[in-house]
Amino acid sequence: MGNGMGQAPQGNPSYVERWARGPQPTPGFAACQELSQAVFDVAVLGGDGSQARAAELQQLMASLAVGFQTPPLELPFTDYGKAVAARNALGRLAQQSMSRCRAAASAASDPSPDCAVADLLTAAAAASPPLPDSLLVDNLVAAFFGNASTGPSLAKVLQHLAEGEGGGEAVMERLRREQQEVIARHGTDLTAEALDDMPYGAAVAREALRITPAVPAVFRVALVDFELQARRIPKGWRVWCHLGDSVLSYNKDTFVPDRWLQPASQPAAAAAAAAANGGGCPAHAHAGASGAARPEYSIPFGSGVRTCLGRHLVFSELLLVLAVLARGYAWEAVTPGERWRVVPAPAPSNGLLVNLRRL
Ligand code: HEM
Repeated sequence: MGNGMGQAPQGNPSYVERWARGPQPTPGFAACQELSQAVFDVAVLGGDGSQARAAELQQLMASLAVGFQTPPLELPFTDYGKAVAARNALGRLAQQSMSRCRAAASAASDPSPDCAVADLLTAAAAASPPLPDSLLVDNLVAAFFGNASTGPSLAKVLQHLAEGEGGGEAVMERLRREQQEVIARHGTDLTAEALDDMPYGAAVAREALRITPAVPAVFRVALVDFELQARRIPKGWRVWCHLGDSVLSYNKDTFVPDRWLQPASQPAAAAAAAAANGGGCPAHAHAGASGAARPEYSIPFGSGVRTCLGRHLVFSELLLVLAVLARGYAWEAVTPGERWRVVPAPAPSNGLLVNLRRL
């Protein structure tokens, strides 16, 4: 993602501040979606991250998502037709971003553009043979689609912290203390160094992603025959690998960020056996004797060569939001325990209304 995140800290507080100044309760889910689109605009497309751009991107995302699982009947009034139109509009935005970056790069007076598209153009030109623009546009649309998971993940963090599901005020207190230490060491700017120096914030983000992975499963093809929990999977089968408890609901266990700060004392095999006893889900591997999480069992961004390209951007974004909130805001959920649907896309049943105020 290049160094595009360097621009996000300036954009991020103003979004949160605007929510706090606006009428309460704040629709937390929509607000998080808007923020995630603004960050994508700045960090990936090199846009201005304005509210208007974020709204435009979110509208395109909504049209794209609705057409995702519909019959491929491409007429202007069908969901599929609207999704194709949204995809084409996104393609145009990607193309505009590429033209902007190229123009800025060739104008000696301009600073070089600071976004993922600029890095992509450099890499594409250096490839042999150089990659065509059409391929870059396709990949930017894929990245945009990937970003649809970011808003729900931000909102889930907000909910975990607002509700006290084993977290709440005690977790917030520790986040606030950590931010005071971060400010003492790094000053008030949310630099990359400051973000790297928030172990507790990182544990909170990891825990939210572990319990509530926004992508419930990934597809794989079995390359060899193998057995998993007494079931034989023949070579060539398509396998749907759950990233959480189930693809229909979120994990039900407790929000305990501390599990990420404890050393994993048991061997992987013992942890896997404990997981099998605790419901058969690898995400339960922490349930062994030590209570510590094993990072290799929590894979909200997938793994291997097709792992999520946006994972560092997402993680930085989660840390930024946690830092900004912990430094100056308090909030509570209007509907504690609000339930979420997971398919076709994660969303809270009532928009995750929160009362947000400046401290
Ligand atoms: C919380 C937010 C996100 C989650 C949970 C998430 C999760 C995932 C998962 C599980 C995969 C499949 C990995 C695999 O098959 O092993 C994936 C792929 C991908 N993601 Fe994300 N993602 C998120 C945000 C983003 C963002 C912000 C971007 C781009 C800026 C992005 C870009 C991509 C791309 C391009 C792929 C396809 C990679 C490939 O097939 O080579 N994602 N993501």
